[in-house]
Amino acid sequence: MRLIVAISGASGAVYGVRALQVLRDLGVQTHLVLTSAALETIRLETDYKEDEIRGLATETHRVDDITSKLASGSFHTDGMLVIPCSMKTLAGIASGFSDNLLLRAADVTIKERRRLVLVVREAPLSLIHIENMATVTRAGAIVLPAMPAFYQRPKTVDDLVDQVVGKALDLLGVEHNLFRRWDGPANRGPKARRGKAKR
Ligand SMILES: Cc1cc2nc3c(=O)[nH]c(=O)nc-3n(C[C@H](O)[C@H](O)[C@H](O)COP(=O)(O)O)c2cc1C
Repeated sequence: MRLIVAISGASGAVYGVRALQVLRDLGVQTHLVLTSAALETIRLETDYKEDEIRGLATETHRVDDITSKLASGSFHTDGMLVIPCSMKTLAGIASGFSDNLLLRAADVTIKERRRLVLVVREAPLSLIHIENMATVTRAGAIVLPAMPAFYQRPKTVDDLVDQVVGKALDLLGVEHNLFRRWDGPANRGPKARRGKAKR
């Protein structure tokens, strides 16, 4: 399996890092694009170094390299994940204004009718944000807000992160054990054990 993973400059860089760790452990081929704003949020929000994050991917691509293979539909992928997805990147995708490699790769993913999952993050949402989400949804993309559920009784921030990343991987058809699936009220609670992908 081959996926494009992009990290943009919305809050929640850790979601993108965790997605890369899990996909590496599952043996999925990943092609990474980081925006310059993502490098800022990574620096401000985490202790990860840029090289460390690039090292999690199978291949990395410069965001200004419009000659990259990711810019062409002739390079086959099984989909693309933008995690987290800023409102600026959402606007670029919604308008087809592909002036960097992330936006071009998303544009290609939509035109080739491949799966595009956008883990958007902003609060509150303006009408502009909501209309852009409607536009990309009509074009075939899936908007997955970085909005974890609590019915699995998360204990740590890692649990919350894994819940969001796991939902994104579900939508891309990647099998994982990042969270325990709802199995009815009788099977919930602290005694229920969860499987975890290796960190
Ligand atoms: C610490 C930090 C947190 C941010 N959080 C968000 C956010 O949650 N959502 C958002 O849309 N933009 C957020 N921004 C603003 C984006 O980084 C900014 O709009 C940037 O131009 C996005 O560029 P990109 O989409 O090319 O990465 C944040 C910026 C910083 C520095």
